Amino acid sequence: MELVIQKPFDAHLHLRQGDSLSGFAQRAAAFFESALVMPNTKPPILTAADLGRYRTLIREAAPALNALMTFQLHTQADIPALKRAGAVAAKYFPVGLTNSTGTEASTLSAYDSVLRQMEENGIVLSIHCEAPLYSGGEAKHRVLDEALEASVRFPKLKIVLEHLSLEREVEAVKSAGENVAATLTAHHLMFDAVDFIGSRLNPHLFCKPILQSAYHREALRQAALSGNPRFFFGSDSAPHPPESKTGSAVSPGIYSMPVTIPLLACFFDESSQTDKLESFVSVFGRRFYGLLETTEKIIIEKKSWEVPEIIDGAVPLCAGTVLSWTVRDGGKNE
Ligand code: NCD
Ligand code: ZN
Repeated sequence: MELVIQKPFDAHLHLRQGDSLSGFAQRAAAFFESALVMPNTKPPILTAADLGRYRTLIREAAPALNALMTFQLHTQADIPALKRAGAVAAKYFPVGLTNSTGTEASTLSAYDSVLRQMEENGIVLSIHCEAPLYSGGEAKHRVLDEALEASVRFPKLKIVLEHLSLEREVEAVKSAGENVAATLTAHHLMFDAVDFIGSRLNPHLFCKPILQSAYHREALRQAALSGNPRFFFGSDSAPHPPESKTGSAVSPGIYSMPVTIPLLACFFDESSQTDKLESFVSVFGRRFYGLLETTEKIIIEKKSWEVPEIIDGAVPLCAGTVLSWTVRDGGKNE
């Protein structure tokens, strides 16, 4: 069995910097025609000049990849200059939630004058969506509340809540305005807290936001299968060197890129809804971001393969396990 679909748009991808960038960018080009590239490099992308330099490096490494550029939201952001340089989205990392810095204010409303200019210039606001840890989603979800408030204050500002992990986030997106959408990752759809910290802790399943219970995973699955165009694919592939994934200070982030499309094919296949895969990975995200469709295709085959232990110098998601779907010509595998 094989599926031939429009080549995907990854609406949330970390390509890193330095020596590792070219390998990640080349592999991305094998799976995705376009990708929204996250700005939390070291140092982060803040200005039009940073953004232009980073895009040049990505283009040199992988000319075939349509890299959509982002910057980290900050109060001094020169929106007209960033727009001219090709910025598509600003990323808001709430203080204290993840391994990324660069944002200085502790509430989203502190950025209102920047958000207003983004609304006027058609720049999307991408929000790291995460509830306080171990609250099970019961405590106040400040980031979610702030995002919804901003979506009302700025009705023409497009807002994407990234990597949903909780049922209440799914419900919030469903009842929010048309300017609010969300990304879902393959790992949040396929794994839960038992896989992550059940009998043994698996550091390669440690990401932000953390994997929640099967109950929440089911809500994400229903959103992905719903056909609602405001839920679409963003891999949040976030590789770290192996030494950062072991020991007493493990970094959050999963190198999902090599397996993300095969895993989604497994998921839609197991749900007997492979006809919905293309919309989820290739159509809905492009539509929300106002991107043109592509005539490029990928072929996803139902064919077993064993995921290598290391790919591009990082331990990939599902390393050493056998997956039942693969992407034909999906990049070198070691
Ligand atoms: C991301 C990373 O490593 O860049 N990690 C993660 O677990 N998702 C940071 C982030 O996107 O929050
Ligand atoms: Zn991310």
